[in-house]
Amino acid sequence: MDGTRTALVTGATSGLGRATAGLLAATPGWRVLLGARDAGAGDRLAGELGADVVPMDLASLDSVRAAATVAAAQGPLDALLLVAGVQVTRADRTSAEGHELTFAVNHLGHYLLTRELLPHLVAGARVVVVSSGTHFGTLRRSGPFPGPRWGDPRALARPRPGSGQRAYATSKLANVYFGRELARRCPRLSVAVFDPGLMPATGLARSYPAPARALYAVLTPLLARLPFAQTPEQAAAQLVALTTGPAGRSGRYVERGVEAPSSPESADPDRARELWEVSAELVGLPAG
Ligand SMILES: NC(=O)c1ccc[n+]([C@@H]2O[C@H](COP(=O)([O-])OP(=O)(O)OC[C@H]3O[C@@H](n4cnc5c(N)ncnc54)[C@H](OP(=O)(O)O)[C@@H]3O)[C@@H](O)[C@H]2O)c1
Repeated sequence: MDGTRTALVTGATSGLGRATAGLLAATPGWRVLLGARDAGAGDRLAGELGADVVPMDLASLDSVRAAATVAAAQGPLDALLLVAGVQVTRADRTSAEGHELTFAVNHLGHYLLTRELLPHLVAGARVVVVSSGTHFGTLRRSGPFPGPRWGDPRALARPRPGSGQRAYATSKLANVYFGRELARRCPRLSVAVFDPGLMPATGLARSYPAPARALYAVLTPLLARLPFAQTPEQAAAQLVALTTGPAGRSGRYVERGVEAPSSPESADPDRARELWEVSAELVGLPAG
């Protein structure tokens, strides 16, 4: 053992994940595994950063299982950074297994990946779940963005008519429940739920219709000046600090680098437990 530590970053080929992978790969003593759904983009980035690729489509549970096998073969993991995410306009799009796409990618795929990798995470390993202030659903925290609408997790996993943005905010609330429940069930890990703030310059709006994307492009420089906005690089520095710095309280919520309360709604341990158990059913694992 040469003392090098290893981190797996999901969504490593764009936005916050890309910035995080770059910064961590440049941090002495750290080696990065790039979770990438686009193998070509993953390979190019791996060449650039001197990293390794873990092909991974979070919208396919089979792909996630295969990714966990590839990652586990690289040796023990010191950090698991769950950064990938999608935001789509409608909640009727589906994953390979027929789950609602946003719930599948932002929560369920990451849940399965984490469960599969638990035996390979070293004691004290850092797990960071990237959530969002949209999980608050208040005008002050989310502006006009629709808030989460929680329900039976089996229903949340079903495609349905309605707003993809609401499904996104709901998936980001699921991220908080998942992070908290993971911390409770696995005290040997150090878990943080991270809100990077608004990062207008990423690819998150890529599946919006062309007119909405054009409007967003015009607004991006203005949005970037809002007090709660950050560049992906600024947010990545905070995420890397959570990974390489002092451990902190497991299960905490960290907003733009500072520990802060998550929404009152997100502090419901029964929902967190139910989400864990139903997610286990959905991916075919025991609750554990
Ligand atoms: N942007 C914001 O204002 C903001 C605010 C709060 C929280 N966040 C959170 O920050 C995280 C990163 O988002 P971002 O803003 O950096 O957006 P982004 O540039 O779109 O990055 C998202 C990443 O997720 C990956 N991804 C999407 N679907 C996937 C799938 N099925 N399987 C595997 N990977 C998949 C994408 O892969 P490709 O590179 O192949 O497309 C991309 O690398 C997300 O969790 C998001 O919810 C963003």
